[in-house]
Amino acid sequence: MKKNIAIVGATGLVGRTFLKVLEERNFPVNKLYLYASKRSAGKELEFLSKKYQVIELTEENIKDDIDIALFSAGASISEVYAPLFNKKGAIVIDNSSNFRMREDIPLVVPEVNPEKISDSMIIANPNCSTITVMPALKYLDDKYKIKRVVYSTYQSVSGAGNEALNDLERNLVGEKSTKFSTQIAFNLIPHIDKFDITGYTKEELKMINETRKILGKENLKVTATCVRVPVRYAHSVSCNVELENEFDLDELIKGLSEKEGVVVLNENKDNMYPMPLFIEGKDETYVGRIRKDESVENGLNLWIVADNIRKGAATNAIQIAEKLLNY
Ligand SMILES: NC(=O)c1ccc[n+]([C@@H]2O[C@H](COP(=O)([O-])OP(=O)(O)OC[C@H]3O[C@@H](n4cnc5c(N)ncnc54)[C@H](OP(=O)(O)O)[C@@H]3O)[C@@H](O)[C@H]2O)c1
Repeated sequence: MKKNIAIVGATGLVGRTFLKVLEERNFPVNKLYLYASKRSAGKELEFLSKKYQVIELTEENIKDDIDIALFSAGASISEVYAPLFNKKGAIVIDNSSNFRMREDIPLVVPEVNPEKISDSMIIANPNCSTITVMPALKYLDDKYKIKRVVYSTYQSVSGAGNEALNDLERNLVGEKSTKFSTQIAFNLIPHIDKFDITGYTKEELKMINETRKILGKENLKVTATCVRVPVRYAHSVSCNVELENEFDLDELIKGLSEKEGVVVLNENKDNMYPMPLFIEGKDETYVGRIRKDESVENGLNLWIVADNIRKGAATNAIQIAEKLLNY
């Protein structure tokens, strides 16, 4: 049955990609409501060759016939508006960090923990870097039991939204950044989101905590260093993993390549490994450079890349919405 869909943050990078992915996947959309800030009210966006006017997000403007609302307008908007959409009967799938760690809110990657989709009125989409690694790590945990993970991320500028992409372009013509605190072109910034008192950034803590929640292992040893790199789209993550059980590398690679949502690109001799430039626009997570880490018992190194706007945000949320259709 067709659903009435709302997109909150429709003019943003993720919001516009929601429209594209809904079209591509033939999602059964009946009515479509597009919300953004006052700045964008009245602008027109296209869906299936039809133009839709952007509605200013206010409490009064929330329609009462929305089935599913896809949120991507930041944590403070989700905090205020998700409950208001719920009150009008809409289930919210939220891309912000606002509800992810709440015990009563499912945090879902459909290839990993679809069983967590419940009758909750809010379902959280994990952080884009967490989503990138989850399908592969779930396979490893189910088969060999993960003991410890060390993440080092290489996150594209689009992960920080439209203005961040503009900064990269500005820097390339010699102008200063306005979104980032410093130049991102020809640079790396080992600082994503705010620092907390431990010296970790919130982005790093999101990866750590969300990994534990999604894998259902609250005491799993995980650490992360998150770095912004001057790449437009797709996040890359180097994962160093310690497993409890011994493994045969060829068997492990074969198993990974059969995991839903994972594509193994691991032909070193042909220079076949995942690179962000070529993963842009794809919906799967790509895994390569798979090798034993001989410095620890049952150690493994992996290099994982996914499009942060698609699988890391819009596609994952719409896959959740597809599960809701059959719920
Ligand atoms: N980019 C990613 O890779 C990624 C991945 C996963 C999750 N997310 C999350 O998705 C959200 C949006 O990210 P993005 O990259 O799409 O950002 P973006 O390109 O900067 O877009 C932000 C969107 O939020 C809207 N917005 C901002 N303030 C608003 C307000 N007061 N009322 C209503 N709408 C408002 C903007 O509308 P206007 O155009 O009117 O300003 C725009 O549609 C964030 O929570 C982000 O953490 C992003």
